[in-house]
Amino acid sequence: MTRRYLLQALLLFGAGLPATMALAADKPFKIGFILPMTGQSASTGRQEEAAVKLFLAQNGSTVSGRKIEVIFKDDAGVAEQTRRTAQELVVNEKVDVLAGFGLTPLALAAAPIATQSKTPMVVTAAATSMITEQSPYVVRTSFTLPQVSASIAEWAAKNRIRKVATLVADYAPGVDAEKFFKNQFQLNGGQIVANLRTPLKSPDFAPFLQRVRDSGPDALFVFLPSGQGATFMKQFAERGLDKAGIRLIATGDVTDDDQLNEMGDVALGVITSHHYSAAHPSPANRKFVDAFQAQSKFRPNFMAVAAYDGMRVITKALEATKGQGGGDALLAAMKGQIFESPRGPVLIDAQTRDIVQDVYIRKVARVEALGGQLYNQEFDVQKQVKDPGKSK
Ligand code: DHB
Repeated sequence: MTRRYLLQALLLFGAGLPATMALAADKPFKIGFILPMTGQSASTGRQEEAAVKLFLAQNGSTVSGRKIEVIFKDDAGVAEQTRRTAQELVVNEKVDVLAGFGLTPLALAAAPIATQSKTPMVVTAAATSMITEQSPYVVRTSFTLPQVSASIAEWAAKNRIRKVATLVADYAPGVDAEKFFKNQFQLNGGQIVANLRTPLKSPDFAPFLQRVRDSGPDALFVFLPSGQGATFMKQFAERGLDKAGIRLIATGDVTDDDQLNEMGDVALGVITSHHYSAAHPSPANRKFVDAFQAQSKFRPNFMAVAAYDGMRVITKALEATKGQGGGDALLAAMKGQIFESPRGPVLIDAQTRDIVQDVYIRKVARVEALGGQLYNQEFDVQKQVKDPGKSK
């Protein structure tokens, strides 16, 4: 009797343990990517989706025995839709990780859901500093506006630019860019002659450009979200600001690799600061860009790199948990990751969960070695820049 009981217990125990493990291994590991695939920011969705597909094609879609399943959802850039989609993905699809978030308001709408459900939320686009502070489950692989705006202010002050007008999109990342550019420029002895903010939706830049002209600056500093650069550049030339001797300086969002080559000669010589250029001269980046273009027929931009790195951070975390996953275990394994991205060396700061990276100063040029196309050519670098925008 006792022996039979013992035997049964042993059998149960023996059979039970592998069965649990088999269960985890049988279940796909689900990543819910929420992106604007339609509407004004559709290029962000197109770039990021292509990068995720490239990552899976290169690395395979099985990690530690778990099949990786990526679910792409279009939020059309509408925050209420992001919130609803995140909720559905967590409750119905039982996703292991949420990712994407093409604009700051979209990331803010999803953050409470990440907190409530203890789901890691990997922000691969939105770039306002405070996003990582909205939930302890947010990890960011893109960048922050303070991170890239201070460097260009310093460059301007050192290059005989004394008076600057600023023009930014009128929402949180624009406010970040304006504030950090202004502080750094004034600290270096520069003068700000105008602060202009343009509507996020379908902006007409003409009236703002007239005000820039009237304020008589040496240079105009600009931040606009990915997708608006080409329109801006066209209007800048049409209003004759380049001919009036007003230099254009910006964050790299304006000379976005997604649109740069179509901007034409007006973009030549524009100086920007950013964390990624498709022309970044490293073997890792050449390999990335070549593979990306072979797959997708367009050039990767900074959004693509952030999504590609986001996949790296997520799958390495899954590997660290030996395929078991779990919100808190994954989050812990995302913190502190160090690796070489196509953009250069990066670190996920374990304290802030934000990305630490090199910030480059670049100049738009026609690059003969790259088919005579327009690229942002890096000529200076600030190493391992932490987000200067954190409140603590
Ligand atoms: C944000 C969006 C962008 O397209 C960009 O280039 C920078 C920031 C944002 O909304 O956070």
